[in-house]
Order: sequence, then structure tokens, then C-alpha cells
Amino acid sequence: MNRRIDINKLVRPVIKDLKSYKSARQEFVGSDRKMILLDANENPFETGLNRYPDPFQTELKNRLAAIKGVSSSSLFLANGSDELISLLMVAFCEPKEEEIMIVPPTFGMYQVSANLNGVHVVEVPLIDAFQLDVDRILARASDKTKMIFIPTPNNPTANRFPLSDLEHIAKNFPGLVIIDEAYAEFSPGETAIDWLDQYENIVVLQTFSKAQGLAGARVGMAFAKDEIIDVLNTIKAPYNLNVLSQQAVMDRLDQAGQVAQEVRLLIGYKQTLIKALEDLSFVKKIFPSDANFILIRVDDSSLRYNQLIQKGIVVRNPSKQISCENTLRITIGTEIENTALITALKAMDQ
Ligand SMILES: Cc1ncc(COP(=O)(O)O)c(C=O)c1O
Repeated sequence: MNRRIDINKLVRPVIKDLKSYKSARQEFVGSDRKMILLDANENPFETGLNRYPDPFQTELKNRLAAIKGVSSSSLFLANGSDELISLLMVAFCEPKEEEIMIVPPTFGMYQVSANLNGVHVVEVPLIDAFQLDVDRILARASDKTKMIFIPTPNNPTANRFPLSDLEHIAKNFPGLVIIDEAYAEFSPGETAIDWLDQYENIVVLQTFSKAQGLAGARVGMAFAKDEIIDVLNTIKAPYNLNVLSQQAVMDRLDQAGQVAQEVRLLIGYKQTLIKALEDLSFVKKIFPSDANFILIRVDDSSLRYNQLIQKGIVVRNPSKQISCENTLRITIGTEIENTALITALKAMDQ
């Protein structure tokens, strides 16, 4: 158990006193009584979408909570992880005064969201083969550091961080530890969701955008103690998750076997791609990957990026990030797409 952290003290004062928007029909969601709904100025004629969505996504959350083995009160859903990241900053970071910590090279939205919300950003770069600098993270944290964002597996480096490092940070960090598991399905291992009872300052983010195949639906999940979830529920837009997206998730949950099969295929394709990359003279290093993408170091990332563009293939060039000079980040595609990539890379190696 970590030192007791008072979530109430972490929340911005202006948020603590907020009253959330309430819809009149809210209390009847899930009740057996069939009500005539004349409270929300909707068009009563049926289109399949003429009614506002359930603001708290009760049915979907109950189903997800059962799958994940948590109570639905510790689950929050939003318009992608991007909305989760932004709401966390709004809830906990006083603009211009307080800060978040990030561990670059890292996912770019933490910085973007902090900039949008006027929140300072402290960087504690990864060290030695893209590992967390745990001692510096803890030494640098102050009472102004309200959150640290740690994606695991990390983007763009693709590696998972050791659980022992994450636990050590969760135990000793004075604010919230946001563990972003966007790519968790691609490598077996414990999820930090299992630690919710032990560490009251962790928030685990997962998404339907990656392995689950619903990037277009924009659905992200946050798992945390009820006090944290309550704050997010207070500040969210009332109808942040639309009916179509909720339905898309429901339908995808019926296809768990298919998702698992796709993940297996992608992991296999990744091995094939790694083998092909090993034979290329301009590929200097292939970093270990626990995700559905690979980071490689090449001789000249701008040159290789542009050559691929000319061949109609877009990869990511994260070379401006710290320790990522001359790297490319390649997402694993379908077998046909990967074959086209390998053919293009071989032609570039002539
Ligand atoms: C670490 C990480 N978190 C979150 C996201 C975005 O998730 P979402 O599509 O749910 O906003 C990404 C997307 O690239 C990511 O790499």
C-alpha cells in the first residue's frame, strides 16, 4: 500500500465545488418503468439515433467491468484516450501553477494536452535502452507535480517497462501515476488494473483504438479508484460517448475470439518483418517490441522516410524526439501491406 494520498487534496479547488450537468431522465436509466421522455427537446420520431445517449453508458460499462474484473464505478469511458488525458489535466492541474511529468521519448498527446490546458511539463528522459529513470523521477517530483504519464508498452520505443519500476513509482510518487496501456494486448503480462486495490493514486488507461480495431469509434477507458472516477464524471461533457460508438464497442466485445486471432496474426507478421529488417544494410538497430509497431534506427531517417513516401508507404519519423535520432516507427499492417513494405525496403537497399 502506498502512503495514503488524499485524492480530494489533488483535485483543483475550482473543480471540487462543481456541480455536474444532470439530465432529467438519468435516474430512470436501467429501471423497469417505461417512461415517456419529454425532457430533452429531442425529435420523438424514431431514427435509431433520435435520443441522446446514456450519459454514463451504464449498459456498456457494466459489460466492460465484468470483463475486466472491476466494479463499474471504477471505470470511466471517453472519446478516446485523448479525451481522458485532457480531462485528467483539467481535473488535477492548476493552469500556470502546476505540472505534469513525462518520460520522453513518449506519446506526444501528453505534451499537447498540457499545452492546451496551460499546464507545465517536466521531462525526465528514459535511460539505458529506453528504461525509466526511477530515481530521477522520484527526486524531481514535487507537490506541484500532479501527474506522471507512463505509456507501457511505450510509444514510440515499443518496449514495456518492468512492473517493479511501475510499482516503485506508484508507491512513492506524490501525485497520480497514469499508466497508459494502449498496446497492452500485444504482449502478455500483468495489467496495472490489478493494482487498483493496492495503489489509490494509479489511473490505468486502455483504448479500443489499437488491438480492438476501433480507432474510428474513439473509445478510451480509464480505471481508477471511485473518488477519481467521480471527479471525471463531474467534469465530462454530458454526452461524451455517442450511441454509434457505444454500439460499435458492444458489437466488438462479441468478437473477442476474432480480436485475439488478429493479435496473434500481427505478432507473427511482426516476426516476419523483423527477420526482413535484419537483412537490410541501412537498418542499424531494431529495438525490442512488445507492441504492434517496431522502432528501428537507420542510416538516414529523412532519406529513408522520403524514399518510402515515394513508394506510397507512410511510416512515422520520430527522429526529433530525444534519443530517437535517425529512427523510424513502423506499424504492423496486413500481410499484403507488410510484403509491399519489405519489397520497398529491399529495393532501397540496392
Ligand atoms: C500510448 C498511447 N496512448 C493513447 C493513444 C491514443 O489512444 P486513443 O485513440 O484512444 O485516443 C495512443 C495512440 O497512438 C498511444 O500511442
